[in-house]
Amino acid sequence: MENNIYPIFDKMLGRSDKEALLGQRGMMVWFTGLSGSGKSTIAIAIERELQQRGILCRLLDGDNIRTGINNNLGFSEADRMENIRRIAEVAKLFVDTGIVTLAAFISPLRQMRDMAADIIGRDDFYEIYVSTPIEVCERRDVKGLYARARRGEIKDFTGISAPFEAPAAPALTLDTSRMPLGQSVEAVLQLILPHIKKQY
Ligand code: ADX
Repeated sequence: MENNIYPIFDKMLGRSDKEALLGQRGMMVWFTGLSGSGKSTIAIAIERELQQRGILCRLLDGDNIRTGINNNLGFSEADRMENIRRIAEVAKLFVDTGIVTLAAFISPLRQMRDMAADIIGRDDFYEIYVSTPIEVCERRDVKGLYARARRGEIKDFTGISAPFEAPAAPALTLDTSRMPLGQSVEAVLQLILPHIKKQY
């Protein structure tokens, strides 16, 4: 709010005030991957690990976003773009409050993830690709959606009838079919803890 013509805004607390209060730095940990790849499972485990270390987090996923703020959106490319845009705007508010923000969304196209990184700020944005192969996701079929998509009951289903573009240069790639959960969690913690605890 520097250089604001309304002096009152100079009094508004900023991100560094929030970070000093919390004793941590805000950041965005963005999980991308197919449905059933394990994004939410890893993000939920990370949230618990960070909480145990006294780090304040916020997890955004389909359960709290697509049923609420984005309950008017479907799965066309335009709706997915809007889904990700709103998530990124909400996430930015959390990051600017010094909170470690975890997002678990398919976010299938590079341009969607690029947009999110631009909104949130690239310095704070850590992209984690949960690369579990589609055959494994489909075999798991936790929600029975792959079977329905194969029967043609769900259109534009990612990996079946809608595209997924793998990230070009993710900070981390995790294949949950080859790696136990604990190992994925360890790898994510190693990546993010130095950023969260950096002195400011
Ligand atoms: S995104 O593509 O817009 O990022 P998002 O992560 O919010 O997707 O939602 C994905 C979840 O919605 C899936 O895990 C699945 O449970 C459900 N879903 C329902 N329809 C579809 C579809 N056509 N494609 C992918 N996922 C779908």
